[in-house]
Amino acid sequence: MPVEVLEDKVILKDSKGSSAEVYYFGATVTSWKYRGKELLFLSKKSLLDGTKGIRGGIPIIFPQFAKATDSSAETAALPQHGLARISKFEWNGVSVDNESEVSVRFGLNNSQVPENLQKDWPKKFKLIFTVTLNDDTLKTNLSVKNEDTAPFDFNVLLHTYYSVPDISKVSVEGLQNISYIDKVKNFITVVDNDKSVKFTQETDRIYGNVPTEIIKINISDESNEAFLLQRINLKDSVVWNPWIDKAKGMSDFDDDEYKQMVCVEPGHVAEYITLKSEESWEGGQIIQYKH
Ligand code: BG6
Repeated sequence: MPVEVLEDKVILKDSKGSSAEVYYFGATVTSWKYRGKELLFLSKKSLLDGTKGIRGGIPIIFPQFAKATDSSAETAALPQHGLARISKFEWNGVSVDNESEVSVRFGLNNSQVPENLQKDWPKKFKLIFTVTLNDDTLKTNLSVKNEDTAPFDFNVLLHTYYSVPDISKVSVEGLQNISYIDKVKNFITVVDNDKSVKFTQETDRIYGNVPTEIIKINISDESNEAFLLQRINLKDSVVWNPWIDKAKGMSDFDDDEYKQMVCVEPGHVAEYITLKSEESWEGGQIIQYKH
């Protein structure tokens, strides 16, 4: 069976032995294995019981990235990173199942969101999240429909945690000469001239309007192992590693785990997207594992 539907999650398996797991909680992809090798980071301290957002994998950030900085924003009352990652999605079934590809869908509408969050953002909407597995390639796609009578504003981001053996050997290419907001340095705007981003300290950057088609995450400077990240309709990109002190302050993250992960998160977060009544927006990412 290429798709196993369990009580708390769905497991996808393709014909070549790759697999992926998606929890209904947040429709969070928590595992992607290329022929048995895990490619996504999931903290061993992550709660998976629906009491807190999952720490790792690919949480969906919607409709607010971080906390709104403008208190008059429509999403200002929502908690950090919005409501999708802490809402239980419904299982919408298998959409593709053939020799080369398996694809599944999850849905969330406003009435399925926990009640306190519905009050924080009283909009009518429908999300459809599609996860497609094809051997060395994982595709995650989100569509947002405004089912309200008035327009609404939203951010969206696929908060992807990659598993890496040693963060000191990781480099991210494709962001050269692009300006970013440095959240570690009081939100100053910086242009990075370096060929690649390397990690030697806490890193929390929002790259806006990234023109590069492919962002390359080199897993190690000693091999050709890399992730090729293609963004679809997601113009911004967040790069994050909490490093030593932040890691110690997170209850659902082990002190040393910052060495084993890097987040490269395609999104639309520098500005809000405004969606008119009855209109839809769609975006996503295609990640290929090179080895
Ligand atoms: C990143 C943000 O996307 O998510 C960081 O840029 C934040 O500032 C990180 O610390 C994790 O957020 P959270 O809410 O999952 O702890």
